[in-house]
Amino acid sequence: MKILIAGCGNMGLNYAQSLLKAKLVTKADIFILEKSADRREDLAKKDFSNIYANAGDYVHKADVIILSVKPQDWNELAVDLSPHCEDDQVFVSIMAGLSIEALQKGLKKLKVIRAMPNLPSQVGLGMTAYTSAEEVTRGELMFAQNLLSSTGKTLYLKDEEMIDPATAISGSGPAYIYYFMNAMIEAGMEMGFSYSESEIMVNQTFLGSIHLHHQENLSCQEWIERVASKGGTTEAALNSFKSNDIKKRIKIGLESAFKRAVELGK
Ligand SMILES: NC(=O)c1ccc[n+]([C@@H]2O[C@H](COP(=O)([O-])OP(=O)(O)OC[C@H]3O[C@@H](n4cnc5c(N)ncnc54)[C@H](OP(=O)(O)O)[C@@H]3O)[C@@H](O)[C@H]2O)c1
Repeated sequence: MKILIAGCGNMGLNYAQSLLKAKLVTKADIFILEKSADRREDLAKKDFSNIYANAGDYVHKADVIILSVKPQDWNELAVDLSPHCEDDQVFVSIMAGLSIEALQKGLKKLKVIRAMPNLPSQVGLGMTAYTSAEEVTRGELMFAQNLLSSTGKTLYLKDEEMIDPATAISGSGPAYIYYFMNAMIEAGMEMGFSYSESEIMVNQTFLGSIHLHHQENLSCQEWIERVASKGGTTEAALNSFKSNDIKKRIKIGLESAFKRAVELGK
């Protein structure tokens, strides 16, 4: 299986490395189309060899083409790439906000998969929601799933419209987690800890809580009940969250992300 990565910045390189780690391809199977000369030099230093500044005859050799430029660079990439593409190639786009229809139009090809990964894919713990055009066969979809799973977990969405809420939940999600962690770190400092003392307590609390949550099949509410005892410290914080409508406010924030994803998709 030969893969072309079109736009090999942070995410493109992440896929190249994850695919190699998962042994789905060898370095010889990877073609890279990258506009930035500095980036091409960096990639060559990492022992990638099939690196190109423009699309050319080599594009025909790829079975799957990963589209990983910034959305604003898509039109330029499509003009460069589309004359060299084949009808049976499968395109996997990770570009935010670009619909299957827009991708098919730009490429003049039909076999398009649209994916929304998130930042932890860089450490193999990503969450990728994805959907596909009906022209993608079951076998092609299975290969694409293996490809996307090399960076973490995947969720197939039958309905493309669900990519927007997935963007609001898991796409933007890591930033919400860091926001909450940051608030806890600041609270620790206001109580007298140094930044590093507070940070280690918060980081380990998040890490431990997630691991624990994975070990037993309990809901978040059940875990909360295990920590909070009647009249205790946790209950005091939870009551304060409740009287300040924190849950509702978080939902409003996520709703704004969802609305913005819909707007950007237009
Ligand atoms: N980062 C995330 O967590 C995340 C999550 C979900 C989705 N995404 C999506 O992933 C995509 C890539 O993000 P990124 O952070 O990897 O961006 P990035 O680091 O900027 O990488 C994109 C690379 O593509 C190059 N490029 C631009 N136009 C090109 C063209 N016409 N032909 C070939 N190469 C071209 C860029 O070169 P120049 O620098 O010279 O322009 C850059 O090296 C985005 O569409 C984003 O929406 C990212």
